[in-house]
Amino acid sequence: MHVKNDIIRPVILSIFVILLISMNTVYAQEANYDESKVPQYTLPDPLVCLDGTPVRDKTIWQKKRRPEILKLFVEHVYGRAPGKPASMKFDVYSVDTNALGGKATRKQVRVSFSNDRNGPVMDILIYLPNNQPKPVPVFLGLNFYGNQTINSDTGITITQSWIRNRDDIGITDHRATVGTRGISASRWAVDRILERGYGLATIYYGDIDPDFDDGFQNGVHLLFYRAGQTKPAFDEWGSIGAWAWGLSRAMDYFETDTDIDQTHVAVMGHSRLGKTSLWAGATDERFALVISNDSGCGGAALSRRRFGETVERINTSFQHWFCDYFTRYNGKEDDLPVDQHMLIALMAPRSVYVASAEEDQWADPKGEFLSARYASPVYALFGLKGIEQDTMPELSSPIMNAIGYHIRPGKHDVTDYDWEQYLNFADKHFN
Ligand code: GCU
Repeated sequence: MHVKNDIIRPVILSIFVILLISMNTVYAQEANYDESKVPQYTLPDPLVCLDGTPVRDKTIWQKKRRPEILKLFVEHVYGRAPGKPASMKFDVYSVDTNALGGKATRKQVRVSFSNDRNGPVMDILIYLPNNQPKPVPVFLGLNFYGNQTINSDTGITITQSWIRNRDDIGITDHRATVGTRGISASRWAVDRILERGYGLATIYYGDIDPDFDDGFQNGVHLLFYRAGQTKPAFDEWGSIGAWAWGLSRAMDYFETDTDIDQTHVAVMGHSRLGKTSLWAGATDERFALVISNDSGCGGAALSRRRFGETVERINTSFQHWFCDYFTRYNGKEDDLPVDQHMLIALMAPRSVYVASAEEDQWADPKGEFLSARYASPVYALFGLKGIEQDTMPELSSPIMNAIGYHIRPGKHDVTDYDWEQYLNFADKHFN
């Protein structure tokens, strides 16, 4: 018996390892980074309704085509989400008018989504510039490891929520430590934002829905199950839908805060959270300006290009981000009734900015640019200039019309350069 086990165990283990390696090889081979291998594709036309009616003016766009496209994204990509909960509560539990050396007022607001004391809550961290008349315009963005990571300000509450383990910063039990204070500060140009007269609000995305696939047994999904329901239905929200929903709940709070100009809120996000800021901008027209930083597949990048990350790949690694229906398009991008240029178009006539990074080929910078380009005919209906050139601009040469775009040197990240462009773009559109 022992002899047998001694032989069988290593054999099974080796088969398993070989399988894993070959799966990875398949995936590695799958990612195309060669422009000449991008397949021919035809994009759905944002200016033709499903029944063939051409969209010749903004009224037809707003009354007929926009709702139609939004519904297609809901049903096929991000899933249906509930509205505002009936019993939401805002608790402004901490205010410091002398934060960051007196430059800012720091507020921390706990948002309860239900009357259940043990239910999920999210903490909004808000910095407002002290030297500005109120109300001020605000940038709102989700963060990856807790509010305490965006600045070393010791007044920021450390998140109690589940966070992803990260050996390099000593997170091994899914709990944030004091050592995580300020670790993401390079991605949040707090001083510069305040200096330029804007406020900044941020929320840890895991407060809304922890980012791992547990069949939706935690986070806000639980609050909305019907009797007997144990997971979202095939056309109901995944995690991106939930995170975007959380951003809208922050907006609900802003509407009650007289220091914040809720008509000038820019929603910004990086990577998966860039996909989320776009979806939030599409579903909630209260966001006046929408920013996608390196959002890639399922964000700004055109799915049909199949360059870098593909629909199949993202649905395999991160199925919980989308609704189950989205998996029907694995390897079948041409069957999608939408592509991501239509997501950008849903922002019209509000301003939208798409940013790419040269080394971030996984996110397909060219596909991100082309989405912005092909959304432009919708902006033209409003007499607004989107992106008129077919070729990508040079590195670090931002385009700033109603649609903005830049590609900068460097990797997948949020840099001071990115923020500088967002501030310039907001200045331009918020006047
Ligand atoms: C992965 C994923 C991307 C995502 C990124 C992120 O790379 O494949 O789609 O944008 O993670 O959110 O950091």
